[in-house]
Amino acid sequence: MKTPFLFGKVTDFPNFTDRVKESERLSKNLLNGVNSIIVSPRRWGKTSLVTHVLSDIVEKRKDVRVCHIDVFNCRTEEQFYQIYANAILSAVETKLDKFVEAARRYLGRLVPSISLSDSAQQYELTFGVNFKDDKLSVGDVLNLPQRISEDLNIDFIVAIDEFQSIDFYDDSLAFQRKLRSYWQHHKRVTYCLYGSKRHMLLDIFSNPNMPFFKFGDIMFLDKISREDWQEFIVRRFADTGKVIDIELSGIIADKVKNHPYYVQQLSQQVWLRTARKCTLAIVDEAFESMVRQLSLLFTNLIDSLTSRQISFLVAVAKGEERFSSQEVLSKYKLGTSANIKNLRTSLLDKDLIDIRVESKIEIQDPVFEWWLLNEYL
Ligand SMILES: Nc1ncnc2c1ncn2[C@@H]1O[C@H](COP(=O)(O)OP(=O)(O)OP(=O)(O)O)[C@@H](O)[C@H]1O
Ligand SMILES: [Mg+2]
Repeated sequence: MKTPFLFGKVTDFPNFTDRVKESERLSKNLLNGVNSIIVSPRRWGKTSLVTHVLSDIVEKRKDVRVCHIDVFNCRTEEQFYQIYANAILSAVETKLDKFVEAARRYLGRLVPSISLSDSAQQYELTFGVNFKDDKLSVGDVLNLPQRISEDLNIDFIVAIDEFQSIDFYDDSLAFQRKLRSYWQHHKRVTYCLYGSKRHMLLDIFSNPNMPFFKFGDIMFLDKISREDWQEFIVRRFADTGKVIDIELSGIIADKVKNHPYYVQQLSQQVWLRTARKCTLAIVDEAFESMVRQLSLLFTNLIDSLTSRQISFLVAVAKGEERFSSQEVLSKYKLGTSANIKNLRTSLLDKDLIDIRVESKIEIQDPVFEWWLLNEYL
């Protein structure tokens, strides 16, 4: 039997739960020309949400084209343009001859060459020359969705996943200026930009000195609520002829603090161990087994940290808040209060902590937090 829980993959119905309000808001935005930015820590469900909303739009609206681009692996501006052009063209033309024709029509100046990629179903466009500093060529790529929209009399939605990656480009600020200068003239294209690294994205989108200031509606994705998980877990068990009661489903959500990826992972472990009716012993056993599986990873992670970084994480896990106080500094051997800022920044960069409200620091990975408190110490 196929497991009713999915993790590590982008999830959609019937593996998709809740997110009703978020889906509505995003859908409304994108269909009304409001650019949208989505920010959340890793694995909270950004990609799943956008995929869900976009596939709904594709189904209902024949006059809208959507394009989903993941720029996680783009390390340079040139790679970005290449992946971008490919994704946009593939979103409108799936047949080889049409794809080639469109590449010539819109990007002829860049002398593109086209080859069949590994997956054999996709065509791949490469540009021969170094065009990054050629304004005309860059414009051709960035204006591509707008020109196609005008020609086909459609609207275009361009979704760019892992947008925080652009911060690593050689001159990210100049690149952002370029994007903004073209995109702001696009009447028929709506952009949805999303990623993790809250502090970096916030700097890009809510700093008045940055090109993307006030570019669109910023949505902070929350975790999925305990009640929604309960309903979801009970339903998915029932769908597959097994039974779990509402309290136990709540305990699954609690154990991983409602973290979407982990709730699905733990639910799957519990489901696999349940012959027919779930018990508390099964939930506990599944959780322990999950921690055991992850502990090697966590040990390696700890090995990569300095002793002060580890102490800081322990202090966060123990619920400390006043990090600059003498008491906390000496209890956890954190050095002087001047260190705290560096510790915070380095752990934010490593995606280990999240700071949503200034005074409230959280460990991003709830299982790591549990391991830290119960196994490591
Ligand atoms: N709405 C949802 N309903 C059920 N499960 C979900 C939902 N959203 C996310 N999940 C679970 O969380 C996992 C991670 O989701 P997803 O990949 O969409 O997160 P992400 O925020 O894009 O992560 P990353 O920052 O690593 O790209 C999914 O594989 C799924 O198991
Ligand atoms: Mg994602």
